[in-house]
Amino acid sequence: MSEPLGATWWRQAVVYQIYPRSFADSNGDGIGDLPGITSHVQHLRDLGVDAVWLSPFYPSALADGGYDVDDYRDVDPKIGTLAQFDEMVAALKAAGIRLIVDIVPNHTSDRHEWFRAALAAAPGSPERDRYIFRRGEGPDGERPPSDWTAAFGGSAWEPVGDGQWYLHMFAPEQPDLNWENPEVRQDFLTTLQFWADRDVDGFRVDVANALAKDLTLPLPSQAELDADDLPDGVHRLRDRDEVHEIYKDWRELFDRYDPPRTAVAEAWVPSAHRRARYASPEGLGQAFNFDLLLADWDAIEFRKVIEENLTLARSAGTSSTWVFSNHDVVRHATRYALPAGTDLKKWIRGDGTNPPADVERGLRRARAATLLALALPGSTYLYQGEELGLPEVADLPPEVLQDPTWIRSEGKEKGRDGCRVPLPWTSTGPSLGFGSGPAHLPQPPSFAELSVERQQADETSTLALYRRALAERRRLQTSETLEWATDAPDDVVQFSRPGGWTSVTNFGEAPVPLPAGDILVSSAPLADGTLPGDTTVWLRTAD
Ligand code: NOJ
Ligand code: CA
Repeated sequence: MSEPLGATWWRQAVVYQIYPRSFADSNGDGIGDLPGITSHVQHLRDLGVDAVWLSPFYPSALADGGYDVDDYRDVDPKIGTLAQFDEMVAALKAAGIRLIVDIVPNHTSDRHEWFRAALAAAPGSPERDRYIFRRGEGPDGERPPSDWTAAFGGSAWEPVGDGQWYLHMFAPEQPDLNWENPEVRQDFLTTLQFWADRDVDGFRVDVANALAKDLTLPLPSQAELDADDLPDGVHRLRDRDEVHEIYKDWRELFDRYDPPRTAVAEAWVPSAHRRARYASPEGLGQAFNFDLLLADWDAIEFRKVIEENLTLARSAGTSSTWVFSNHDVVRHATRYALPAGTDLKKWIRGDGTNPPADVERGLRRARAATLLALALPGSTYLYQGEELGLPEVADLPPEVLQDPTWIRSEGKEKGRDGCRVPLPWTSTGPSLGFGSGPAHLPQPPSFAELSVERQQADETSTLALYRRALAERRRLQTSETLEWATDAPDDVVQFSRPGGWTSVTNFGEAPVPLPAGDILVSSAPLADGTLPGDTTVWLRTAD
């Protein structure tokens, strides 16, 4: 399968994200597990991906889908063992697929041994110094140290009963670590080394932009934190310049391996140019670019985002990333099924009925968007299930919701469970081949039609399209440049790549003339020498 590319394998890789608890359940307990992944390596191989990014698989009470880690150097017994991890790695490697694991350095879980020790210890102790404890306001510290709010709702501070409060930017079960503490720094290096020694090829770094914080008194108010005229690099909690010191140490460790270990930063930073340092070869090496994910289905917007990010990546000495879906956002087949500007949280709150989704159009655009991204220089990150064209499941009943957002927002927001519904492998069975029993999040009946079993027998399926596109890309992808067509209509994004291939996307409704060339792959059927609306085609053209 994939040939050894040495140190640069990641630069134009297709990386497939697995959210392990929703991929495949090998023992029928309703929760996806590591043996489930091992048993479906053939699917990944047939799909043609270069690497897997595995979302957290560590011991966890699942207060935040596994992003609340009890122990960074073990596997959650609910989903496997270290030995089964090794078996999974071996199976992936035998199929020529590399592995990137998720690392969550901003916070541990509240069940981590360090946090238990911190709670048992006194204010001011070394145990508490690994986290961010502060005395509350008021004579007995009965009020939070500031009015900061957490990402999932509610206060960002939690009292521990002795006048002190700890900071959690996410759920209360996710206490933030103090990265000024050398022990914290050292321990993460040990963790990275642990997995790198276990043949892991790289790391996806969770909220990479939030590790360095400035908690000097007086603490600003939330309104001051939110001010949009702050200069770069001085926000108290995010994207501070010192954060890059941490990644310098990580890079030094990564470069001790052959090939060097890679990393990709999840860093939602205010402007694209701030992303460059996370992505630099002296830092993590690559950073997610969520700009296409946020863009409307619009040729001008797409072109601008692509141009900007290619320039930025080049100047940072790296390759760009492209992504439309992941475990945190509404699946792109559904986003594109809704009118531009739809408030997605509100739409999910209404069980996905208002406005109604144009499912067919959404899928057609999603297929065209993915085919376009797969033609770009750089790495493309795919999220499990998008190769089946899965939609967001917006009407999950409240009693099955797991996202902390649901509880923390007191039922005002349902959260991200709708993109985490387990995959349909077959068109029948209690969880459509996910496992032998019901799944931890119920699948809608429409998933049966979208199962792997159904789609692999259908040449026109989304799965067939992804397989063809990945196979062609593997053959065609060469140097990391593109050339824009200068004569393309406004609604069309057209560029050619070295080696003689061209990608053309028609964002409009009306068909446009198809440029000359042999058709390699198209996201929808073509007719009469034209490219219909909402369609991408790759053509073999002259160099
Ligand atoms: C980003 C992860 O992708 C998300 O799922 C998680 O809730 C937060 N970071 C907190 O770890
Ligand atoms: Ca299981």
